[in-house]
Amino acid sequence: MYAREIRPGVRLIASVHWERRLFDALIPLPDGTSYNAYLVEGSTATALVDTTDPELRGTLLDELDSVSSIDYVVSLHSEQDHSGVIPDVLAEYPKSKVICSKKAQELLMTQLHVPEDRIRVVDDGESISLGDKTLTFVSTPWVHWPETMVAHLPESKILFSCDFFGSHLATTDVYVTDKPRVYEAAKRYFAEIMMPFRNVIKGNLDKVAALDFELIAPSHGPLYDDPAFIVDAYRDWVSPQMKNEVVLPYVSMHGSTHQMVTYLIDELSRRGVTVNAFDLAVTDIGKLAIALVDAATIIVGTPTVQFGPHPSVVYATYLANLLRPKLKYAAIIGSYGWQSKAVDQIAAMIPNLKVDVLGTIMQKGLPTDETFAELDQLADAVAAAHAADETVVADTQ
Ligand code: FEO
Repeated sequence: MYAREIRPGVRLIASVHWERRLFDALIPLPDGTSYNAYLVEGSTATALVDTTDPELRGTLLDELDSVSSIDYVVSLHSEQDHSGVIPDVLAEYPKSKVICSKKAQELLMTQLHVPEDRIRVVDDGESISLGDKTLTFVSTPWVHWPETMVAHLPESKILFSCDFFGSHLATTDVYVTDKPRVYEAAKRYFAEIMMPFRNVIKGNLDKVAALDFELIAPSHGPLYDDPAFIVDAYRDWVSPQMKNEVVLPYVSMHGSTHQMVTYLIDELSRRGVTVNAFDLAVTDIGKLAIALVDAATIIVGTPTVQFGPHPSVVYATYLANLLRPKLKYAAIIGSYGWQSKAVDQIAAMIPNLKVDVLGTIMQKGLPTDETFAELDQLADAVAAAHAADETVVADTQ
């Protein structure tokens, strides 16, 4: 999009990727995304904060046509959707230097072949002067790579946060206008890439809270002119508190597992436990990730395929283990025809989840009265575990 002024001397150059539906060949993007670059023009020097994805290279370079000089190209994060056009910008502005963290230096050199003599490394807390404007860099590792940092522009009270606080949302809006929509998109983004690092992110939140800003300018999605909206959401997502919720990813091939799942959903609901069930044959994996942010319990429902869990369940279980949600309780239910090792195989796939297993119920063929009685007991165990756990709270969102 055309460059838009957000503060005197500070312009947003958003490359809006309306068509994109998949990120990293993994993450669904139901609402597209944007890659935001920011041009900061001081009285003596100009900086470009982040660039754009190489696929939209022309969007950024066209907007820079009228910019006669750039002294610094700030790379807050080396992933290619922000850094991928740095080589083009360096070629256009031969005197410009890349500003990045020490850890980012090697990544930019190996991933993009940025020459070492075009890079200036900054330390945590270091500032560069643009004359009447200053950029101060604050290290915020693991949001979501080890080299990430944010930039603070105190004169304009802006925090440039790159992926941190970002949302995958294609929009023409500069600022957040539809809070529920942005909340969901930001939560999806947090769930998919930030959640495994939530303990480090807690420290990063405290670090940025010490800065004086009125505007958060991320490198995906709209800007936050009410920073508390997203900062408070992050504080909630990284807190130890969970909701009285069960996430229930499942697959059924011939109906036995489905009967067990639907029965269990009702029984959990009767006991006051909220259930988010996902038929993995059709589910948006991002929705599953969002549900995992707050849930206290995961219950996996699987039929047996050649003695093991269904491949879709393997994928979802692997992903849940990778995302390291807060979960404290788990159970496995499902069915088999003649023999099953599904429980053992699923249990071996979740070493990162420090969960108490509240039950495993594998039914040979169709469920019976005995099976339903076991499911009643499982529902009792889940409700009791949640009630006794002081980190499980009622949903107030
Ligand atoms: Fe938006 Fe981690 O890149």
